[in-house]
Amino acid sequence: MTKRLILMLCAVLLCGVFVAACGEDMECGGGGGGGGGGGTEETGATEGAKVIDPSLAENAKGEVTYCQGKDTSGNAHYMIDEFNKKHGPDLKAKLVEFPASADEQRNQFIQRQQAKSGDCDVFSSDVIWTAEFASQKWLYDMTPYMEDKKADFIEAPIETITYDGKIWGSPESSDAGLLYYNTDKVKEVPATWQEVYTTAAESGGITYQGAAYEGLTCDFLELFFAAGGEVLSEDGTKSTIAEGDAGVNVVKFMADGIKNGSAPKAVTTYMEPESLSAFQTGKYAYMRNWPYAYALNQKAKRVKDNFDVAPQPEFEGGGKGGILGGHNSVISAYSKNPGAALKLVDFIGSPEIQKAYAAQFSLAPVRAEIYDDAAVKKALPFAADLRQAITQARSRPVSPVYPQISQAIYKNVNAALAGQQTPEDAAKKAQADIEKALATF
Ligand code: GLC
Repeated sequence: MTKRLILMLCAVLLCGVFVAACGEDMECGGGGGGGGGGGTEETGATEGAKVIDPSLAENAKGEVTYCQGKDTSGNAHYMIDEFNKKHGPDLKAKLVEFPASADEQRNQFIQRQQAKSGDCDVFSSDVIWTAEFASQKWLYDMTPYMEDKKADFIEAPIETITYDGKIWGSPESSDAGLLYYNTDKVKEVPATWQEVYTTAAESGGITYQGAAYEGLTCDFLELFFAAGGEVLSEDGTKSTIAEGDAGVNVVKFMADGIKNGSAPKAVTTYMEPESLSAFQTGKYAYMRNWPYAYALNQKAKRVKDNFDVAPQPEFEGGGKGGILGGHNSVISAYSKNPGAALKLVDFIGSPEIQKAYAAQFSLAPVRAEIYDDAAVKKALPFAADLRQAITQARSRPVSPVYPQISQAIYKNVNAALAGQQTPEDAAKKAQADIEKALATF
C-alpha cells in the first residue's frame, strides 16, 4: 500500500468516526454531520494544482461558460440571465447543459478535462467528485478565495469541497432525499420504511431512482445506513457491504418491494426525472426525491393541490439514514478566463442567488441565513426539516475511486431489483467489486 493510499484512507476513516459520533438531535460542528469531503487531512495528492488569484475577478471581461446537468428546474437559466443583466455586455455567461444522469455529467466533464479543453470554465460538480477531480489536478485550488468566505456557508457543503487540506470550489446547492406523498392516498407518513412500502402496495406505490446510476447508490445507501450498514471497514481497506445483515436485508427489501407491487417494475429504469413524472401523474402514493421536486410538483396539474413532503422515516430495527447530496461550483484548470469564472462562481454563492434558488426553485441553500429568510420559509414550509436533514446527512465514501465504488453498488443492486441476481449475490458481488476498485489506487 502506498503512503498516499494510507493517508487517504485515514481521511476516510476520520470522517466515518466523526459521523458515528454525531447524535441524531445534535448539530455536528466541524465535520458538518459527515459532509462528504473528509479532506482536511493533507495527503499530498493534489500537489502542483493551479491556485486561483482572487484579484483576477476584479476586472473580469469576456465570456464564461457554465456547464451543469439538465436544467430541469430552470434555475441555471435564471442565474445566467441575472448574471448577464448585471455584468453584460462586457462580461457574458453562457450555459451548457449535460444529460440528467449524474454519471453522464461526470463523463462529459472528464472527456473535456482529458482533452485539456477549456469548454467548461465553471462546472457544477457533484459533491462526490471533489477527491477524484482534485487529485487529477483538473480544478483550480480555490483556497485563497474561499478562506474569507467559508464562514458564510454551512459546514457540511464546505466539507464536500475540501480535499487534501484545500478548498476546490464554492458550495452551490445542497441536497438531501425527502419523502413526497400524495395526500389523497396517504394521510400521515408512517414511522418506518417498512410501513411506507406496505401502505404503498395498497395505495398506488412508491417511485424512486432505481436505474443503474448514481441515484440508485443514493437511494440504496439511505436505507443501508438507516439499517446500520457500512460500506467500508474502519481502516478503509476493505468493503463491509456484505457483512452483517444490513446489505442483504436492504437489497431484499427493495427487490421484494418490486415483486409485491410496492414499487413499479419500471423503477429499475427510473432516474430523477422519470420518478418525478410518474409521481406527477397522481397515480402513486409516495416518491423518494430531492428538494427540487417540490417547486416542480407545485406546477404539476395532478398533484399540485394534493402533495406534501416529509423527512425520511426509520428503517425498522435500525434508525434514520440520509445521505448528503448537492453541487459545488468548480473552475476548470483549463479555463481561458479564470477571472470571469471566479466572478460567476461568486455570483452563484451570493445571498441573492441562494435566496432565489430556494424561494423559486426549492433548491437547498448552502448559506444558513437563507433558511430563516421570511420569503424562503413561506415558499418552503419544510425549510427547517430540510436544514436538519442536510446537517445530519452522511457522506458517501470519500475516495478518488468513489465513482467505481458507487458503480459496484448500483450495478449489483439494480441487477437484484431486476430479478437478475439474488440479494445475497448482489451484496457479495458489490463487496468484491468495491475491493477491486480500492486496489486500483
Ligand atoms: C442529486 C444530488 C447528487 C447526487 C445525484 C444522484 O443531484 O445532489 O449529489 O449524486 O442527485 O442522482
